[in-house]
Amino acid sequence: MKVTIIGQGYVGLTISIFAAQFFEVVGFDNNEGVVDRLNHGNSHIEGVESDLLKKRIKAGMYRATTRGKDVSNSDIVVIAVPTPLTKNRQPDLSFIDSACKTIGQYISHPILVINESTSFPGTLRNFIKPAVEKYSLTKIEHMYAISPERVDPGRSDYNQKNTPRIFSGLTSDASAKTKDFYSKFCDNLVEVSSPEVAEAAKLFENTFRQVNIALVNEFAQIAHSLGISVYETLDAANTKPYGFMKFTPSAGVGGHCIPVDPTYLAAVAEEHGAPATFIRRANEVNLDMSKYVVNRIAADNGGNLKGKSVLVVGVAYKPNVADVRETAAELVIEHLRSQGAAVSWHDDVVGNWKGESSALLQGADIAVVVTKHDSVDEKKILASAPYVFDTTGKVKGAKGL
Ligand SMILES: NC(=O)c1ccc[n+]([C@@H]2O[C@H](COP(=O)([O-])OP(=O)(O)OC[C@H]3O[C@@H](n4cnc5c(N)ncnc54)[C@H](O)[C@@H]3O)[C@@H](O)[C@H]2O)c1
Repeated sequence: MKVTIIGQGYVGLTISIFAAQFFEVVGFDNNEGVVDRLNHGNSHIEGVESDLLKKRIKAGMYRATTRGKDVSNSDIVVIAVPTPLTKNRQPDLSFIDSACKTIGQYISHPILVINESTSFPGTLRNFIKPAVEKYSLTKIEHMYAISPERVDPGRSDYNQKNTPRIFSGLTSDASAKTKDFYSKFCDNLVEVSSPEVAEAAKLFENTFRQVNIALVNEFAQIAHSLGISVYETLDAANTKPYGFMKFTPSAGVGGHCIPVDPTYLAAVAEEHGAPATFIRRANEVNLDMSKYVVNRIAADNGGNLKGKSVLVVGVAYKPNVADVRETAAELVIEHLRSQGAAVSWHDDVVGNWKGESSALLQGADIAVVVTKHDSVDEKKILASAPYVFDTTGKVKGAKGL
């Protein structure tokens, strides 16, 4: 059985390495640099060890490619490409369209196409199937299924094997084949009645997080205005053994999923005349947190940040990963600069970002912790500036939310 995974990023490479225990996997990516590094056994994704990648390559079970013709003898093709927002914050399916083009142009026998990219309900039925058919050189009846990805890069307790996986095919044959495929490397498969339910479930999971993060971010502001500790209050609420789930405040949400996926749900809701009030408001609250943080820092420093050297500690969107997509640090830096601060940042996990390099963790007037990697020493953060504002709740002794 030959499997092609289109897109060798966080999702695609992770799946490839698990699937390559049982299937011959071709990792197709249109980024030549990524493909070259992968074929040399160098993983660019946290949680995918280079040694394991080398092992799969050596066993002849994995290779990466940019060449469309290398996918032509596949039995299964999994789509794992980005689904970002356009400039107008609308769903951008252009990467999925391009993946469908690869399938249409290079595969001329019936296969199983599985989508793992996150998108709105109806994407498999109304976008992917028609797109593959449009690009196919001859009329072919492929099978189509969806199995939204739940990987959490950098996490070690849950992985492809022990994270339950939702799936559904457009036909019962597609569902059965999809189950066969994933059951090789996933212990718990949950079939739902339609692809639309699977697509919606994925969006709702991330919307649940987005809305709760917005709620706790708003609550942090309420707690501060009341002069009580947000963290102590949350810990107290969390002693209730049922009906409460603890979320923690932050400078905003980042990553490819939480700031983006709910907007896919909102867009499709509004298209169908349904409200998405909560989702839209949650997005605003989370985006506004960066401004709130900078205003708090300014208020503590005489109301003026002009000419102050400010060191932003941690620019990745979450701890222990190098991913900076949609990071809250970007808005924090923007607001600091708009108030006249001279901003540099320290993040050895990220290293280089937007043409700038990680600065030394020392010598600033003000330090603001946006993301706390495990490797960064708390004492060094506290010594890096006379005033330290921590948005993570992890640096004891610093000012905070
Ligand atoms: N990163 C996560 O934690 C996560 C978790 C669950 C779901 N998802 C979803 O999975 C999908 C993929 O996300 P990701 O984080 O893996 O993205 P990514 O940016 O890490 O990787 C995507 C890869 O696809 C490649 N690519 C783009 N267009 C291509 C094309 N037409 N043909 C071949 N390769 C192409 C890019 O070069 C890149 O290497 C998205 O829909 C995302 O929302 C991501």
